[in-house]
Amino acid sequence: MRAARAVAHTNIALIKYWGKRPGDPDQNLPAVGSLSLTLERLRSETTVRPGERDSFQLDGHSDPAAAAKVARHLDRVWRSANPGPRPPCAVDSTNHLPTAAGLASSASGFAALTLAAAAAFELDLDRGALSALARRGSGSAARSLWGGFVRLDRGERPDGADCRARPLFPADHWDLRLLVVHTAKGPKPIGSTDGMQRSADTSPYYPAWVATSEADLERGERALAARDLPALGAVMEHSCFKMHACMLATVPPLIYWNGTTLAAIHEVWAARRAGLEAYVTSDAGPHVKVLCRPDQAAELAARLAAVPGVHAVDTLAPGPDARVELLP
Ligand code: DP6
Repeated sequence: MRAARAVAHTNIALIKYWGKRPGDPDQNLPAVGSLSLTLERLRSETTVRPGERDSFQLDGHSDPAAAAKVARHLDRVWRSANPGPRPPCAVDSTNHLPTAAGLASSASGFAALTLAAAAAFELDLDRGALSALARRGSGSAARSLWGGFVRLDRGERPDGADCRARPLFPADHWDLRLLVVHTAKGPKPIGSTDGMQRSADTSPYYPAWVATSEADLERGERALAARDLPALGAVMEHSCFKMHACMLATVPPLIYWNGTTLAAIHEVWAARRAGLEAYVTSDAGPHVKVLCRPDQAAELAARLAAVPGVHAVDTLAPGPDARVELLP
């Protein structure tokens, strides 16, 4: 075993993933495909080294619940190529993003962990195989192996081998901006994994959500290829609001938004009526993400920063591929 360090950037789904298909829970198979944009700056940096025993530090602190998830994921990576016992690992991770606030720390976190662990264990895996492994840690992590615009296919196989992401277009395909509008501080109340299980179990809209997602993916991919922002924005908003409708109809309801979330959404629509090309999406958290043109980003950010209750607005360009290096 070697020591290796990986960096993976977070991603925001333009066409959403919500729900798992039946099968082995450890495979973490999504019920629907998804399409995402990887972001600059917001990233996880993870080092995996040989250790005396397993240890895990996130931003310099230990966290027993997270350590157990990390150890389980190291086992998956190791067992993909080795029958014997896994060597103990010292894992250190730094998140350059707000953890558990609906900003997909699990996406960049599990992507970086998968990449660093595979390199540390000296496994010869291609990015597709790494993506399928990352998916078992968190579905959205499968997409963070690549920069730019990425599609995660739902796949059909029970072993998940065909459920992996693939890059559609690199970051320089289309110079867009994504504004992250922070509407709250602190972690979200219900994590995605539990939330989507509840939706599948109780939301009468869940079957409709699953049945209509493939068409959204195709529309999204076509709009991306054509660099057609109104078309991409329309299907992105539709996917987002269908997911939130499915969440709202969950028992008990999953409402990830607060009043500021809604005010920010209305502000984006007001900006659109005023002629700006801006489209919203939001995930399992209260923040609002706005897709727009680079030349209109500053004006939009200023409008959104002025909405009462908004804490901050980050402006982010498309980000790079995940990367890994062996350490001495
Ligand atoms: C709303 O990837 O966090 O952000 O696979 O259970 O770890 P698990 O879920 P996760 O869910 C992401 C849900 C979402 C939409 C998306 O990113 O596609």
